[in-house]
Amino acid sequence: MSNGNAGKKGRHFGQLSTLANSTNILWHKCAVEKVDRQKLLDQKGCVIWITGLSGSGKSTVACALNQILHQRGKLSYVLDGDNLRHGLNKDLSFKAEDRAENIRRVGEVAKLFADAGVICIASLISPFKIDRDACRALLPDGDFIEVFMNVPLQICEERDPKGLYKLARAGKIKGFTGIDDPYEVPLNSEIVLKYGDPCSSPIEMAEKVVFYLEEKGYLQA
Ligand code: ADX
Repeated sequence: MSNGNAGKKGRHFGQLSTLANSTNILWHKCAVEKVDRQKLLDQKGCVIWITGLSGSGKSTVACALNQILHQRGKLSYVLDGDNLRHGLNKDLSFKAEDRAENIRRVGEVAKLFADAGVICIASLISPFKIDRDACRALLPDGDFIEVFMNVPLQICEERDPKGLYKLARAGKIKGFTGIDDPYEVPLNSEIVLKYGDPCSSPIEMAEKVVFYLEEKGYLQA
């Protein structure tokens, strides 16, 4: 099966496994595999993981990228941190262990989308390197493409699209990323989208990601 890490994680077909609290479980293999779905879609499933401060433009770039790919006949889907916190992750707060669980769940969902052959665009602050790297480790090499929105805090705060920085500065939101909660800057992202660079409108930033996907062969089976 094209499950990428079946062997790595101790998922041996035909053999009962124990994973965390799940005991006596067996991986069930289907006849239709990732490679078959990719042929159907004429693309390769992968995860574009967009990380950055609130207000850095993650969701805007994610949607622009989704739109460009859609226009090119490629199937993509956006997993947006804010949106997922309305459903799947509504039981989670912004304390460190809940952020870790937020990222873990989205990483697992993104992995399923990629296995389905979809270009999955995950857009979350994901402030901690350890959590981002754990998501990377879920996918076959190359299929996790980290995109860092390199936008200074000052700019994000000036934009303040939801008025949250203002509330955080006033002490009305505690533990706000960039104000009184950390953001660990990624050092090895596949793509860095830098504020102030030439060609840095959301569409142009999304086009840079499309160019990367094209170059790496993800836009064909
Ligand atoms: S993450 O840190 O766990 O990755 P996620 O991307 O899901 O965060 O959600 C971030 C969004 O939640 C922000 O864009 C902002 O709108 C909102 N938010 C509410 N409280 C906080 C907070 N304390 N820190 C950061 N974002 C917050």
